[in-house]
Amino acid sequence: MLAKAYPYYLANEAVFANQDLTVTNKYTGEPATQVAMADADVIDRAIAAAEAAQPALNAMKPYERQAILQHCVERFEDRFDELADALCVEAGKPIKDARGEVTRLIDTFRIAAEEAVRINGEVINLEVTPRARGYQGMVKRVPIGPCSFISPFNFPLNLAAHKVAPAIAAGCAFVLKPASRTPIGALIIGEVLAETDLPQGAFSILPCSRDGADLFTTDDRFKLLSFTGSPDVGWDLKARAGKKPVVLELGGNAACVVDADADLEDAIERIVFGAYYQSGQSCISVQRVLVHQDIYATFKQRYVEKVAALVHGDPADEKTFIGPMISEGEAGRLAAWIDEARDKGATVLCGGQRDGAMLQATVLENVPADAKVCAEEAFGPVSIIAPFSDFDAALEEVNNSQFGLQAGIFTRDLYKAHKAWDVLDVGGVVIGDVPSWRVDNMPYGGVKESGLGREGIRYAIEDMTELRLMVIRTPGA
Ligand code: SIN
Repeated sequence: MLAKAYPYYLANEAVFANQDLTVTNKYTGEPATQVAMADADVIDRAIAAAEAAQPALNAMKPYERQAILQHCVERFEDRFDELADALCVEAGKPIKDARGEVTRLIDTFRIAAEEAVRINGEVINLEVTPRARGYQGMVKRVPIGPCSFISPFNFPLNLAAHKVAPAIAAGCAFVLKPASRTPIGALIIGEVLAETDLPQGAFSILPCSRDGADLFTTDDRFKLLSFTGSPDVGWDLKARAGKKPVVLELGGNAACVVDADADLEDAIERIVFGAYYQSGQSCISVQRVLVHQDIYATFKQRYVEKVAALVHGDPADEKTFIGPMISEGEAGRLAAWIDEARDKGATVLCGGQRDGAMLQATVLENVPADAKVCAEEAFGPVSIIAPFSDFDAALEEVNNSQFGLQAGIFTRDLYKAHKAWDVLDVGGVVIGDVPSWRVDNMPYGGVKESGLGREGIRYAIEDMTELRLMVIRTPGA
């Protein structure tokens, strides 16, 4: 399974410096392995190395960057089972979800390999006025420079990959801070990157404590900060990031609307998946479900039956659907939110009990809008159902949120689909499926408290490159 000890990666080199970070098995709570931790001095050296490596990266040809990404694809395929097992242990991710994430890691690097040779420019006609006669413009994209990346615990591989792979495609050096609770996935990515010809200093992957990590935010040698994690932390980092651009992929309380014409069985199956896969620990996990009143009673009965039947337990067991949350503290936090909703009049239709980090898959009804489990990001195995009578009012209800990441609409009515696309204040509207749906080339990100900017390789490459213009004057033209 996991190695006994993992290094950090400083300027492309594995460093078995100390073994200060204990990574636990999130199901048993037992120590699983030890990891080297970086301090502020190491982070400073990593940034200096990234800055020094940037000219060599600027000079790399697209096909060379593509070859590095292609190497990663092959090595991740070779190490598929090891990567899935690591996720299962360090994140408590059910093994089927863990395999799904490794498949997505491979997709993300494969798409980046394709995009690496498609970073094109444009010829611009500047002769829009007599004073520009004889002038022509051309723009190309150049790497923005060293990037600071901070990735979360819930997709230890793929959400790190959404920063690392486009950076390599774009030609940016980077320093990555993986989540301290789940650093192993990112460190295996580091091991594979260390096999490549990336210029010395092009990458560092540094687990570290929050105290030592301020440089990731404040250091001006970084030309971009890209953070995925909680809204509170993300907006605080932005306030302290100085002049560098910031990309924030934050949370949500994603909603799903099931209209009267929906294929009910299909919608139920998809919403059970979208609300409860990897114990709801996804920013686009279904949290609020609005169901047309004509089908509400049937929906409620079938939905609750299916959720109550989900297999809970050891994430390594093939049959398990609901594994542990990332920590007992997080499970306790969400259990308290369920209790708060109950105290405010909500009905618990199934679940609601907690044992350590295991929280039962829970469905709630009659939840007041100001209960935390509705208004805040639950980030766990909980969904709320409610009926609606008017489609437009349901869309307003979806928008009645501080967040705006993705929304899912089950309807077969093309006009309603367009209406949802027009009026929903979110980064993405998914018709005929849950908001939790994502494929790795699509633009992904949110509005309002959910963040700033978009990931999805091509869109991340836009953030990691700058336009550089050349103007050519032809005298006498
Ligand atoms: C997230 O939790 O923000 C990412 C969801 C995904 O990539 O599926």
